Amino acid sequence: MESRLRIKTGIEVLDTELNGGIPNGSTVLISGASGVGKTTLSMEFLINGAKLGENGIFFTATETVPKLKKYQGGFDFFDENLIKSNKINIIDLWSISDRLGLHPERYDLEEATILFEVIRDIAKELDAKRLVIDSITSLCYRLQTREMIRDFIFKLGSSLSALMVTTLLTSEIPPRIYKFSQYEIEEFIADGIIFMGDSERKGDLIRTLQIVKMRGTSHGRTKFVLTMSKKNGIELAPMLKSTI
Ligand SMILES: Nc1ncnc2c1ncn2[C@@H]1O[C@H](COP(=O)(O)OP(=O)(O)O)[C@@H](O)[C@H]1O
Ligand SMILES: [Mg+2]
Repeated sequence: MESRLRIKTGIEVLDTELNGGIPNGSTVLISGASGVGKTTLSMEFLINGAKLGENGIFFTATETVPKLKKYQGGFDFFDENLIKSNKINIIDLWSISDRLGLHPERYDLEEATILFEVIRDIAKELDAKRLVIDSITSLCYRLQTREMIRDFIFKLGSSLSALMVTTLLTSEIPPRIYKFSQYEIEEFIADGIIFMGDSERKGDLIRTLQIVKMRGTSHGRTKFVLTMSKKNGIELAPMLKSTI
């Protein structure tokens, strides 16, 4: 089968800014504070892929599966049939961890390896083309050292890339801080960083999105205003500098 070079996010302006989409097999950090839209953007990415026939897996580590389905079900893009038909699988990462008998708070090296192998094997088994871990920050919290975090993300990224799986890792950071990841290791290993922020404009908080890095492609670095609506999901529009 011909493997495509670009994976369209389905968010039009973002794909244009990426010159067609995310380079196939990349691992991209979706960084931002709570409430900026990381989970929604990641889910929309999977749904848009599934509509093109590409299988997706959403590993949730911040919300339970029923809660995630309930909230994402509030957007028109969310199509329950894609889950029923297994085009998209939503999996609770901690349930897997529990079932494997891994330590609930801190993993040792062997446990980290087991979890990494299980994620990779599930991706292979389900023939995934797109994968999300929401969030990598809460997973990093269970890895005891910076070396373990580096090793985990590196091994995960390279084996998913070998399978031609394009991966989004959400990264939680404190509000209104220009930083991309909690441990500052994640951002160096990831192939790309998309930063979602808050900006104050005339007293209102507005959401913004900016591509910070994307290996293997030229891309714009424009800061866009991001809006979320039930009808249209995530939309981007240029930020009008004069009104800031
Ligand atoms: N149906 C909806 N229409 C528009 N905005 C919504 C809708 N549902 C949720 N939101 C917005 O999405 C935000 C949560 O987005 P989410 O993707 O969970 O953010 P994050 O994962 O970055 O914390 C909420 O705070 C709310 O403002
Ligand atoms: Mg979230």
